[in-house]
Amino acid sequence: MITFLHNRARTTLTDIDPDTTVLNWLRGPAGCTGTKEGCASGDCGACTVVVGEPQHGKMVWKTANSCLMLVSQLQGKQLLTVEDLAQGNQLHPAQQTLADNHGSQCGFCTPGIVMSMFALQKNAPGADRHSIEQHLGGNLCRCTGYRPIIEAAQALCQAPDDDQFQANSAAIAQQLAQITGEENDDEENDATTELAGGNHRCLLPKDITSLARLYQQYPQAHLLAGGTDLALQITQFYRQLPLLISLNHVKELSAITVTDSMITLGATARLSDIGHQLQSYIPAFSEMLTRFASCQVRNQATLAGNLANASPIGDGAPMLLALGASLSLQCGEQQRELPLDDFFLDYRKTALAPGEFIRAIHIPRVTVSPSFQAWKVSKRREDDISTVFGAFNLHHDQGVITSARLAFGGMAAVPARALACESELCAKPLSETTLAAACSALDKDFSPMSDFRGTKDYRLQVAKNLLRRYFMSQLQGSDLVEVSQYVG
Ligand SMILES: Cc1cc2nc3c(=O)[nH]c(=O)nc-3n(C[C@H](O)[C@H](O)[C@H](O)COP(=O)(O)OP(=O)(O)OC[C@H]3O[C@@H](n4cnc5c(N)ncnc54)[C@H](O)[C@@H]3O)c2cc1C
Ligand code: FES
Ligand code: FES
Repeated sequence: MITFLHNRARTTLTDIDPDTTVLNWLRGPAGCTGTKEGCASGDCGACTVVVGEPQHGKMVWKTANSCLMLVSQLQGKQLLTVEDLAQGNQLHPAQQTLADNHGSQCGFCTPGIVMSMFALQKNAPGADRHSIEQHLGGNLCRCTGYRPIIEAAQALCQAPDDDQFQANSAAIAQQLAQITGEENDDEENDATTELAGGNHRCLLPKDITSLARLYQQYPQAHLLAGGTDLALQITQFYRQLPLLISLNHVKELSAITVTDSMITLGATARLSDIGHQLQSYIPAFSEMLTRFASCQVRNQATLAGNLANASPIGDGAPMLLALGASLSLQCGEQQRELPLDDFFLDYRKTALAPGEFIRAIHIPRVTVSPSFQAWKVSKRREDDISTVFGAFNLHHDQGVITSARLAFGGMAAVPARALACESELCAKPLSETTLAAACSALDKDFSPMSDFRGTKDYRLQVAKNLLRRYFMSQLQGSDLVEVSQYVG
């Protein structure tokens, strides 16, 4: 059984297949067809809803792709759809502003765009055009009428946010706190909630001990974090996931902590929160996360899920490899620390043992160079997967490189460090000669595959160009001219 607020209505679901997406629940049993299905794969934004959570007694509302969200992820949250915004005949400002600016163009995209605009105004008041594009990048308009949509968003961001949701924020937070309180009362009897239906089960443990025990007991279960990768198994490959174990109610897993020596990212910390919190510690990391998927996906997705799916073109791994990250892993009562260097074994294969899960990701602060940089090359700027991803973490002192960690995605079967290249860089001057040798070493490090995103030669050239760009960013004045003459 799960309980959540559908707008202000307390809603309890029992006997529902936990493989059901929020989109299918909305359009089916809930009879709310305002939310549309375009792609069912997180790419178009037609299904965008807003999910509210209490934070410090007030509500925080963020977008999500309902086609990638499984119903169990609603437990203890507030779900808002396009039907919930207007009050009687009075459109919500997000709707009215879109209509006033001629941005309401078709019935497929508009509900999702309205929901993204609603969350944009709440999370980025006064947003500039760049920020608006980042927030709306996950909403496609196939007729390419973006100008009026962006103008509407600009107008909305200038208007005061004084809608009924803000006015009732504390009351909604209290309603949700009551739901969570009741859930915690049950905890005395049982530390795990369960949602079951259609011979499928989703277990929602509330603490790490229960999670570890359950996953050890059922190592064949699928762990559910943000679901932005896992849900595709259901919506794109029509697979059945008979047993899910959700990580989303284990409070200890969501923390992001920064000490003098370490940055620790809990396994269920969301990418949007990570980006926000790391802004002042590793700005290039945060900046790069804005190129990761879309706002809707970042609000749900986790870095641990990104590592566990072991995609060779995942964006998190190259950055974390370059930053010397390590993982806390747990299986039953056993815990171990593993350098990320040892995590990826082969294509889509990791060092996780059956029943073992990622608890947290650690980034040692001493390893983070102030000149850390990461770049993603993809066919589209917004909401696209990398062709090549390069992350560069060099320390240098008076023009001499004192340490080098470089990692790439899209260059091998796994995200990987460029070890030959690194050894060409260590203890060498930041110069054209060093750059040339380092670029040649990339040929030894990688023999990438050719596919529809890029040929082998293209990928190697891009990797070299990114390294060259990094060198250029580190050098000033005459040195820059010297390097710019290098043709990699
Ligand atoms: C439209 C779209 C765009 C995308 N764009 C990008 C992109 O630009 N860059 C990119 O890198 N990826 C992208 N992705 C892929 C995906 O969003 C990311 O990999 C995301 O970080 C996965 O995290 P999640 O929390 O949603 O994982 P989930 O879907 O919940 O889980 C993914 C896998 O990891 C396992 N898992 C999750 N957490 C743990 C844990 N703590 N321990 C062990 N196993 C675990 C799950 O069982 C599952 O097998 C995109 C996906 C979509 C749908
Ligand atoms: S239906 Fe396209 S993003 Fe969900
Ligand atoms: S608004 Fe739907 S295609 Fe442009």
